[in-house]
Amino acid sequence: MAKILLDRLITHSPEQTAEFGKNFALRLSPSDVIAFKGSLGSGKTTCIRAICEGLQVAEIVTSPTFTLINEYHGRFPVYHFDFYRIHDVRELEDLGVLEYFYGDGICLVEWPELVEELLPPHHFLIRLYHANEMADFGKLLHDTDIGSSDHWSNNTKINNEEKSVGVPEIKRLSPNDRLIEVYEYDRTRH
Ligand SMILES: Nc1ncnc2c1ncn2[C@@H]1O[C@H](COP(=O)(O)OP(=O)(O)O)[C@@H](O)[C@H]1O
Ligand SMILES: [Mg+2]
Repeated sequence: MAKILLDRLITHSPEQTAEFGKNFALRLSPSDVIAFKGSLGSGKTTCIRAICEGLQVAEIVTSPTFTLINEYHGRFPVYHFDFYRIHDVRELEDLGVLEYFYGDGICLVEWPELVEELLPPHHFLIRLYHANEMADFGKLLHDTDIGSSDHWSNNTKINNEEKSVGVPEIKRLSPNDRLIEVYEYDRTRH
């Protein structure tokens, strides 16, 4: 399975994360599925709200923690899932999750861990790290390699050259810093 790191950036405010989200939205087309991984408060919903804005969704975007799914209407139909409270994947079958994942809308999935096997062969993963998870930042940066260099965000970039300054960067971390990584998965490619 091909897993490509498309982008990696640090944002210093919710506004910068939103800027990233709006830019990312320009890349999306119908039937795209995007999974969002990150701890509570890492910025998943903030990012999704901005992607929806980029997709010209007029509705208010809030986390569907209790409703499991919110449906919005933008340039394309948008389905926003939050599986935080799901414990059994069978609950999701009732919801018809596969029909959404393989349908024509754009699916934005918070807490995708439980449905990982159900995600389509081609999907995106946006991984968010809260500042307080970035203590071992240097290690984090060395553990992953940049794949394609198809960047679309305008925020601070960490490229391979800057990896070596990853550790000193820690000293300047603020509570509002977030590390965002964008991966593309394609199980049909090797
Ligand atoms: N750089 C940043 N990016 C995103 N959110 C940030 C950032 N800095 C601070 N925040 C705050 O962190 C919180 C993120 O919340 P939310 O997006 O709901 O996270 P999640 O959905 O991952 O639980 C918000 O209160 C937001 O204002
Ligand atoms: Mg959320």
